[in-house]
Amino acid sequence: MRDHVTAFAPGRVNLIGEHTDYNDGLALPFAIDTGVTVEAWALPGDRIEALAADLDASDVFPASHPAPASGWRAFVRGAVGELARAGLPVAGARLKIDGTVPRGAGLSSSAALEVALCLALIELNELPAPDRRALARLCSRIENEWADANTGLLDQLASLCGKSGSALLIDFRSLDVRAVPLELRGFRLVTLDSGEQHANADSGYNQRRAECARACEMLHVDSLRDVTLAMARELPDPLARRATHVVSENDRVREAVAALERGDLPALGGLLDASHASLCDDYDVSTPAVEAAVSRLRDAGAVGARIMGGGFGGHVLGLLPPDAPVPEDAVEVRPGPGARVVS
Ligand code: GLA
Repeated sequence: MRDHVTAFAPGRVNLIGEHTDYNDGLALPFAIDTGVTVEAWALPGDRIEALAADLDASDVFPASHPAPASGWRAFVRGAVGELARAGLPVAGARLKIDGTVPRGAGLSSSAALEVALCLALIELNELPAPDRRALARLCSRIENEWADANTGLLDQLASLCGKSGSALLIDFRSLDVRAVPLELRGFRLVTLDSGEQHANADSGYNQRRAECARACEMLHVDSLRDVTLAMARELPDPLARRATHVVSENDRVREAVAALERGDLPALGGLLDASHASLCDDYDVSTPAVEAAVSRLRDAGAVGARIMGGGFGGHVLGLLPPDAPVPEDAVEVRPGPGARVVS
């Protein structure tokens, strides 16, 4: 057991490939510079004391029996519970959580929290670290089973596998992750807050996931990865539109990688716009506040802009050409390194 460790896990931006992760599809996220830091100190006995510094809120529970809770506490108890379930039981500790990524903003504050907690607890207890894919799965179980959000692996893999200067092409069928250099040639990626908070557990997220499962049942396939646009269109509404989004979004991810590889940033912008239209019209995850934020980025000169993450609020993403200034309340984002033990 070590006395004291610090771990950091970044949030993420998803360039393109939305609502594809739980459909065995493709996405192109990257880790950002902001995220969650967890400091951990060893305590004698079985007591976990957690402090969310930015909320000025605390929690105390036994490491051997974490009971369910809500809000940020669900993630701390879930991290301890899921590590034990994976054969990695942890001893008493004091945990201090500090975040620079805004909560409920579509930038994966929850994945950053899960990943930073797990890395800190594994290191403090000197446990054998699972590989990054296994750790991503463990972290997503925290979200699924402790926080009631039936999310996929996008956020956790992006946070764990982040690489400076590159986006990550993730194939969720094989869990293969390939770095794709993000050479923007003077263009800039920015996020803008729609002003509307979202929580995957409460939004239509779980419902969308259930609709995709129903579409698979009706088409007698294991996942929407095996579906063509012609097959998707045979489904009844709204399942036809849901499946059409997923199938076309996988194609847009492939096209985005090709556009980046040939340095065609305007084409990438067009794909962001097409992704937004599909998420808005076929997947129905936009809101008036999100539409207003996307319009503001387009008015500021963006060659492409779209809703990001689960939808129903949060930050939107835009691609600005070299001559367009970054709007005052937008934040420029760049690919940074993945989660790590800092000390
Ligand atoms: C949220 C979820 C991810 C993913 C996206 C949509 O961020 O946590 O698993 O499904 O929405 O692409």
